[in-house]
Amino acid sequence: SAGMAITGTGSAAPSVKLTNQNLSQMVETSDDWITTRTGIKERSVASPQESVVSLGTQAALNALEMAQVDPKEIDLVILATSTPDDLFGSAVSIQTAVGATQAVGFDLTAACSGFVFGLVNATQFIRTGVYRKVLLVGADLLSRWVDWSDRSTCILFGDGAGAVVIEATTPDHDGLLGFELCSDAQLSHTLNLAHQGEAKTLVDQTQVSQGSYRPIAMKGKEVYRFAVEKVPEVISKALFRAELTAKDVDWLLLHQANQRIMDAVAQRLNLPRDRVISNLAHYGNTSAASIPLALDEAMRAGKLHANDIIAMSGFGAGLTWGAAIVQW
Ligand code: ACO
Repeated sequence: SAGMAITGTGSAAPSVKLTNQNLSQMVETSDDWITTRTGIKERSVASPQESVVSLGTQAALNALEMAQVDPKEIDLVILATSTPDDLFGSAVSIQTAVGATQAVGFDLTAACSGFVFGLVNATQFIRTGVYRKVLLVGADLLSRWVDWSDRSTCILFGDGAGAVVIEATTPDHDGLLGFELCSDAQLSHTLNLAHQGEAKTLVDQTQVSQGSYRPIAMKGKEVYRFAVEKVPEVISKALFRAELTAKDVDWLLLHQANQRIMDAVAQRLNLPRDRVISNLAHYGNTSAASIPLALDEAMRAGKLHANDIIAMSGFGAGLTWGAAIVQW
């Protein structure tokens, strides 16, 4: 058996920024409302030429460069996304674009929990000794699925990609100290991007459903309550599995959905604000990309040090939520 280590991080976001000021020209809202309710000031939005594959590939190449890993050494590519360019999957396109010719790739869907679910997934392949080098990408282009006339959702989301290279280490140096993953569809109606079809008759009594997806629908208050209750709980469970407590946490790295959620979770765990990694103000909620994007920025800013303990937690549609305690 083997342990895991994150040896490289990378990210990419579209250069076009949509500010709160811009949004206030599109819907009835204001910079003040958005800033005080969410902490978001601007978000990146992809141009029609950009895609999950193009941004995911850029993030992946940056991570590979930091890790100094030749793409041909990668065994597995996992793309956490809910907005693939191709519903059949987009991981394989990223795999080929980065030149990971010896790897296999697949998509993983767990909405805003996708990166944490992917990290745990990748680690299993490494611990069993099947694979030694994994490229994990979190990328989403929610701008494709936002109802830009719905002020209760369009202010929240942004586009981006983040990636990590995960490598096998010796078992006594396993960087994933503990994790806990959860899902429950009882509240799935509070946040979804659901298929909406119209019946089409093929022949006689035989009908099929044809159509596309409805834009993102959200009951904000219910999602907020869910996050503030479940995130501290799932982090505590993951810490317990790691035989640690919140006192041992150097960095709290949550899915970047709302600054108020991050502050409330930090408060419940008794962690001071300067232990919270946040770049939400500049990116909004980038779904599966948000944790690796913030991780990469923190890494490149020199914030993270060897042996630091990072409590990561994703939460979102499904509903899904989970935590991973990572030692750097
Ligand atoms: N600008 C101005 N007013 C607005 C806006 C806006 N953009 N949006 C809503 N309002 C109004 C509402 O209509 C409402 O008016 P009313 O009182 O006259 O009915 C008032 O502001 C308050 O609205 P609430 O929805 O109650 O505001 P709340 O304080 O709950 O904040 C928010 C809304 C920011 C969406 C919050 O509930 C939230 O962040 N929830 C979590 C959402 C989230 O994180 N979702 C994604 C997580 S998972 C994933 O990433 C897929």
